[in-house]
Amino acid sequence: MTPLRPAMPWISKTVSPAKEAEPDPDAQSPAVGGQRACRPDSSAAPPRPAWIEVNLDRLRRNLRLIRRELPTGVRLLAIVKDDAYGHGAVEVARLAVAEGASFLGVSTLAEAMALRDAGVTARILLLGERQESELPWCVAHHLTVCLNDPAGAARLARVATRFGQRVPVHVKINTGLNRYGVRWDAALPLLEAILAEPALHLEGVMTHFAQSDEADKGFALMQMRRFDAVMAALRRAGGPQPMQHLCNSGGFLDLPAAHRDMVRVGILLYGVFPSLQCRRIAGLRPVMSVKARVAALQQLQPGDTVGYGMRYTAATPRRIAVLPVGYGDGYPRVRNQGQVLVHGRRAPIVGGVAMDALMVDVTDIPEVQLWDEAVLLGEQGAEHISVRELAQLKNSVTYDVLTGWQPRLPRRFVWSETSD
Ligand SMILES: Cc1ncc(COP(=O)(O)O)c(C=O)c1O
Repeated sequence: MTPLRPAMPWISKTVSPAKEAEPDPDAQSPAVGGQRACRPDSSAAPPRPAWIEVNLDRLRRNLRLIRRELPTGVRLLAIVKDDAYGHGAVEVARLAVAEGASFLGVSTLAEAMALRDAGVTARILLLGERQESELPWCVAHHLTVCLNDPAGAARLARVATRFGQRVPVHVKINTGLNRYGVRWDAALPLLEAILAEPALHLEGVMTHFAQSDEADKGFALMQMRRFDAVMAALRRAGGPQPMQHLCNSGGFLDLPAAHRDMVRVGILLYGVFPSLQCRRIAGLRPVMSVKARVAALQQLQPGDTVGYGMRYTAATPRRIAVLPVGYGDGYPRVRNQGQVLVHGRRAPIVGGVAMDALMVDVTDIPEVQLWDEAVLLGEQGAEHISVRELAQLKNSVTYDVLTGWQPRLPRRFVWSETSD
């Protein structure tokens, strides 16, 4: 069944990939040599022939599949930091909230304020540590901060008092990641200090796993035991039981005992599993594709080379397609490695990837023409290039591939018409 497109007024432009046509070159071109000497509105300029495509249908389906797996009462915090892992924080946040996410998670004050400026009123948890100068902004924008030490709690209490507010806070317990948070064996005094502070409301207690998506859960289980020891100590001290949240995507998938009151899911929302080992959810699909159109074609003779440094030499006559996208857009800077999809087939990259262009050998795909669509990440026909494949090229992790695309690569939000 074809899903109905929901009313989502914030998506100003939705494009059906199947119906998208080449822009009419004359439709929006500025007047040349005529009466109108004024500079045309740059927002009407033709789109760049290289882009990130974000499939909102898939995102919505992923959100539903994830929520369906959560026991009743367990809330979802959608991690939308780093522009929703490169997918567009505002659009993702709105859809996540529409699909029942209770909280959004971001890393920086600017990320949180951008969501507020876009009209997102949902609860936002700011992960990490805050400078004192940020705290008034957090209170004014109703952002919930994580507290990691007594001095930070005292600073926030002063600001909250100045605003005449009692603000909810979440305490991060460092159970072994040794990044942010109060060490588990020193956590109780901080929790008690917060409980004694009238301007602060201890709403949540959290921790973050160092390794939750590998087959060996030993360290994660030890982190859970440390966390539980803190909660037990708080109970013995007569304190109330705040909401608990421990899980990232790996914990959500593989550690149901750690689900507690809320899970903080990031990469899984975007249809990418955090590891090869973790449990699978059937139907979850990647949300992001990266595409470009063939901007030039070159016919090579034997002995011709391609690109800077002449890293590729044609042994036989070859046909080369040039894609106007490069390492300046976030594509891995590889040489004679990696492939793209054209006409549903794999075409190998030849020579070195340049800042703004990469070249692929399309000799075996003779139907390729100028401005044909190529896929650098995602699917075309029966073929697909996964985030993991690009991560291997980049010698990095999938998270880095998703977040590594540069802002000059425009994003297009699409609702696929099919229930693929
Ligand atoms: C505190 C915290 N919770 C949850 C997440 C989400 O992790 P994942 O993308 O693996 O679900 C992150 C991301 O790094 C995080 O920093």
